[in-house]
Amino acid sequence: MYDLVYLNGEYLPAAEACVPVLDRGFMFGDGVYEVLPVYSGNAFAVQEHMERLQRSLDALEIANPLALGDWQQVFDQLILNNTGAQDAVIYLQITRGVMQRRDHVFARDMRPTVLVMCQLIEYPSQQMNTKGVKAITREDNRWGDCYIKSLNLLPNVLHKQYAVDHEAVESILIRDGQATEGSASNLFIVKDDIIRTPPQGRHILGGITRELILKICQESKIVAREIAISEDELHDADEVWITSSTKEIVPVTTLNQHKVGAGVPGPKWLQLIELYQQYKKTVMRG
Ligand code: PDD
Repeated sequence: MYDLVYLNGEYLPAAEACVPVLDRGFMFGDGVYEVLPVYSGNAFAVQEHMERLQRSLDALEIANPLALGDWQQVFDQLILNNTGAQDAVIYLQITRGVMQRRDHVFARDMRPTVLVMCQLIEYPSQQMNTKGVKAITREDNRWGDCYIKSLNLLPNVLHKQYAVDHEAVESILIRDGQATEGSASNLFIVKDDIIRTPPQGRHILGGITRELILKICQESKIVAREIAISEDELHDADEVWITSSTKEIVPVTTLNQHKVGAGVPGPKWLQLIELYQQYKKTVMRG
C-alpha cells in the first residue's frame, strides 16, 4: 500500500503528481472539491456527494470531466491501492485547468485538472464515549455563495486556525446575528427536545452529513426543523453539534468558555449518533 493519487487520468505516487503553476486552481482557487467518507473500504453517500459536486461545477460553469461510473472506478482503485478495507477519506478536486498566461478571464473550452486522493482517517464519533469539544463564535466574513464547495477556503482556514490557536476545535460563524455554520462543518442545536439547523441557502454549504441527519430524523419521527438560529439561541441551546463527513456528529460542550447545557454530550446527540451508525451499516450492506 502506498500513497497513490489520480491526476488527469493517471495513477501516480503523490510525490510525483505535479500541476503546472498556471493552473487556475493554484492562481485563483478557480475550482471545486468534495470530501467523501470511506467506511471499511466503501465510499459512503457517493450519489449525494456527486450531486453536490455537480451543483458546484454548474455554478462555476465547469463541465463534469467524468461520468458517475468513472468516478466510482477511480475511488475503488484508490481505496484498493491505498487504504484497503479500512476507514478513509476521499478528497477530489477539479480546477478549471491550465492557462497560457495569467488572466482573470477564462476560456470556456479549457481542460479541467482532476485530482483524487484517498487517505486513512479515524472518525471521532465512532468512539461513543467522546467528551465533546470546545467551539468559539466568530463573525462570518465569507462571500455570499457559500453553497458552492469552492477551493477558496481562506476565511475558513483562518477561522479554523483561530479556533485551534485558542484551544477550540471549531469556529461557529455568525452573520447578521444568525449562526450559519462552522468553518468546516454544519451546525445543529437542540432546544426543548427539538433539533434545529439553519436552512439551506447561499450562506451555508449544504452538508451531506446534515442532509442524512435530517433524513434519519424524518424516518425515525424525531422532530428536526430547518430554521434560522440566532446568536442568542445558540448560546441558550441545550445541545450544540457540529457535523461533517470527517467528523460525523460531534457534540460541542463548551462554547466561548461557557458550558453548553450540562457541559456534557446530550441525550439527543447520543440518540442521533447511534441512529447515524446504524444508518451507515444499513447503507453499506444494501
Ligand atoms: N468540509 N460547511 C463547511 C463550510 C464545510 O467545509 C463542510 C465540510 C461542511 C459539512 O459538509 P459535509 O457534511 O458534506 O462534509 C459544512 C469538509 C469535510 C472539508 O472541507 O474538509
